[in-house]
Amino acid sequence: MKVNYFGHSCFLVDYNGAKLLFDPFISPNPLANVVNITELNPDYILVSHAHEDHIADLITIAKQSNAKVIAVWEIHAWLQNQGVTNTHPMNTGGIWKFEHFSVQLIQAVHSSSFPDGTYGGNPVGFVVFGGDKTLYYSGDTALFWDMKLIPMRYSLDVAFLPIGSNFTMDMHDAAIAAEWLGVNKVFGMHYDTFGFIKIDHHKAKQVFEEKGIVLSLLPINREIEL
Ligand code: NI
Ligand code: MN
Repeated sequence: MKVNYFGHSCFLVDYNGAKLLFDPFISPNPLANVVNITELNPDYILVSHAHEDHIADLITIAKQSNAKVIAVWEIHAWLQNQGVTNTHPMNTGGIWKFEHFSVQLIQAVHSSSFPDGTYGGNPVGFVVFGGDKTLYYSGDTALFWDMKLIPMRYSLDVAFLPIGSNFTMDMHDAAIAAEWLGVNKVFGMHYDTFGFIKIDHHKAKQVFEEKGIVLSLLPINREIEL
């Protein structure tokens, strides 16, 4: 499994021979200006919810790549109306086996509306499994007790968790989440992009380290092997 971070909550994950792009918000993010979105050619795009900071480049990349977009029903319907036809609608709790991987949609404690204010369905996270690693990408969420259900079914290798606070969990709640999930490796997301979510990197790593968990704050646009 290879992981490339494109800033905010956007990751490109090379998973079992398929390229999975999560929450494409790149071109409005000055921290990600080294990423050229016209070169992105994912096979799948997984969208956690409809907020602008998760879908800004969704239509552009979906159209140029013809990637299959995996999202809740309401985001699927919105995409269909905009001429993005290669979509797979799902909803919370649902599981589907795609060619290279399977995915389950996990609840997220957040909200979800499109930039024009229309309803975006429930926000979700994703467990991706079926390859040599199992990952959990939580999307924007608070810490919630039912995260404890996830390791009852899956043996997770890594979790992608927000750590920026204000709109989501902070680093302390995210470290508790990682403990509950049973992972010893976390990729931080949803931090530094704007003023409300700027964090102290050293402190964040320390908070996780105290629990024996490695927090990775990846440099933008540099692929790493997991
Ligand atoms: Ni959000
Ligand atoms: Mn967000």
